[in-house]
Amino acid sequence: MVVGQPIDRADGKLKVTGGAKYAAEFGMPGLVHAVLVQSTVPAAEIEGFDLAQAQTMPGVLAIITPDNALRLQIRQASQQTIIAPLLQDRSVLYNGQHIAIAVADTIERAMAAAAAVRVRYRQGEAITTMESALGQAYPPKRFRNGERPPDSSRGDPDGAFARAPVRIEASYTTPVEHHNPMEPHATIAKWDGDRLTVWTATQGISGAQTTLAALFGIDLKNVTVLDPFVGGGFGCKGNTWPPATLAAMAARIVGRPVKLVVTREQMFTSNGYRPKTIQKIKLGADAEGRLIAARHDGFSQMSMPSLGEFSEPVGLGTEMLYACPNLAITHRLVAIHTSLPTYMRAPGEASGVFAIESAMDELAAALKLDPLELRLRNYAENDPKDGKPFASKALRECYSQGAAAFGWGKRNPEPRSMREGGVLIGMGMATSTYPTNRRTAQASVRLNADGTAVVRSGTQDLGTGTYTVMAQVAADALGLPVSRVRFELGDSRFPPAPVSGGSATVASVAPAVQQAAEAVRAQVFRLATDGSGRGWQGVDPGQLRFANGVVSGSPERISLGELLARKGVEHLEASSKAELPDTAKGYSRHSFGAQFAEVRVDPDLGTIRASRFVGAFDCGRVLNEKTAHSQLMGGIVFGIGMALLEETRTDAETGRIVNANVSEYLLPVNADIPAIETIIVDSADPVTTPLGVKGIGELPMVGVAPAIANAVWHATGVRVRDLPVRIEHLLV
Ligand code: MOS
Repeated sequence: MVVGQPIDRADGKLKVTGGAKYAAEFGMPGLVHAVLVQSTVPAAEIEGFDLAQAQTMPGVLAIITPDNALRLQIRQASQQTIIAPLLQDRSVLYNGQHIAIAVADTIERAMAAAAAVRVRYRQGEAITTMESALGQAYPPKRFRNGERPPDSSRGDPDGAFARAPVRIEASYTTPVEHHNPMEPHATIAKWDGDRLTVWTATQGISGAQTTLAALFGIDLKNVTVLDPFVGGGFGCKGNTWPPATLAAMAARIVGRPVKLVVTREQMFTSNGYRPKTIQKIKLGADAEGRLIAARHDGFSQMSMPSLGEFSEPVGLGTEMLYACPNLAITHRLVAIHTSLPTYMRAPGEASGVFAIESAMDELAAALKLDPLELRLRNYAENDPKDGKPFASKALRECYSQGAAAFGWGKRNPEPRSMREGGVLIGMGMATSTYPTNRRTAQASVRLNADGTAVVRSGTQDLGTGTYTVMAQVAADALGLPVSRVRFELGDSRFPPAPVSGGSATVASVAPAVQQAAEAVRAQVFRLATDGSGRGWQGVDPGQLRFANGVVSGSPERISLGELLARKGVEHLEASSKAELPDTAKGYSRHSFGAQFAEVRVDPDLGTIRASRFVGAFDCGRVLNEKTAHSQLMGGIVFGIGMALLEETRTDAETGRIVNANVSEYLLPVNADIPAIETIIVDSADPVTTPLGVKGIGELPMVGVAPAIANAVWHATGVRVRDLPVRIEHLLV
């Protein structure tokens, strides 16, 4: 079995040698360049453009504005996938909105022309801060794509809170954060008559295909989307954002293939972000620390509603984390003049669990109870929101293994009690959780006479290891060494697969790969025993073996090639469609984790260092320990960024992002990251997939920020309820 083994990435060598080609790197004859022109005001109607200079500059092929843009079939396209604005009208709804495109024969000439576009605005009143519009908060219309209401409650949360002997009531905030993948959004679009081919940086080639076909009013089969390598996404490549559509529009207008690469600065206004949240928490407990009431009211920042809708689902973790009989969660949106927010790694859980797990730490302090003991006293054996059993839950083991590895027992509960030299040491912990998602996916397997196999699925590899683990799954199911299996993805002509989001790629695609491989294997045995051959006529196929390209079983032993040649067959092929079994509906399906942080704070300067981190995870069966650990560590690094560094700042006067770059938007670098220990707790979910997998990508960042904020409180006695935790918070 190669599943489970920590084999190297199938695409590792290509990536480090530059052999992996990303969307922007597919050069072709006649390729020209498009550059986005952005608004410089937050709220306006465009009165007109002055294009005289830009249009006559050398090499310029077109300046596209709402006046000459192609009319797109926005209504035909589904609400979920369409992201405005697409140059369909002259309204400006945020600072940095795309309002025109300059197309020229070189990138330099396109940039010069874009800079020469002059715009006359009639400015309107802009709302640029969430705080100023809180009074107009409204419930989301399509919370979780309309699959559930934005509010829910059980028992009598307000009555129980009023009666609770121990109460915590506090407000927490998380800032706007941007994904900042290394690879920016980029698209090359090429038309051949009515056929469109795009190379685009996306987490979902099927979604891009559907969206582009609908917007341009062409047949789905006339759109091909290609993306063999993705340089990170974290959610910002989950939707088909305007630049991809605008590149295709520009290519249509100038009649040449067009390349459009979003600049790092434009990445802050073109493809979503994690919205700012304001979260109000109430917790009530009895004297023994058993939760009797909880309330989590979440407000998240939105754009003007005509751009779409996104709601950060902050309460969903709170709803199922602890056994608490009286609980309510609500979600509200606050629209301001900003671009549309979107999913960012663990959307909802990352920000919501910061609030609830900070509040739990405050409750533990009020009760004079160990924070880990408080979690254990409220451990949910079944999902408290609906009473369903968990498909698998090994959170207790995460707590115990994580605490042991971290040395939680050495923590003195008193804040400011632990020091080394003059430096304050703090220890904090928090729980992590993320849903186990699985979506319908298809795959095909072709087994060649030489004992090699090609497996295909229209999925993506964001850098997570899809190429590698799918080859492992196929190799085991086929009985071939993994070196004989090639997995191909990133081509919309392959069997369709879902967006790589919600940590669901492996749970969705691996069962499809497994099914197709097993179908091919069954064909091998049918062929061997179908009666036209020699020795195996009449033999039960279950008596045969197929391993390393050789079919064996008394009385014969022949290579696959020989078997196929005997039968006059060139290769065997099968395809599959795999979906979540109905039986899964009876279960609550989640992954879990326990996060332990140590911080060191200089009491004179307020500087905060994350000095040690241990995360223990119940993330289902692990198919490749190497890529899994890499995901787990990456998630913790992402969480440390959220805890201590990341924040997109907007100028309230102009609604303009002031740190739209990676020098002033602070991301953790190596020097910010301590020793990280990740523990994979043995657990398998037998309900979601036959393989037992759950999902890894998002879970490890959930709970990191509260574990660090709780450690900062333990070090200093200062409770920071607004992320990121900064020096300023401690200089009080
Ligand atoms: Mo993820 S935020 O579902 O790419």
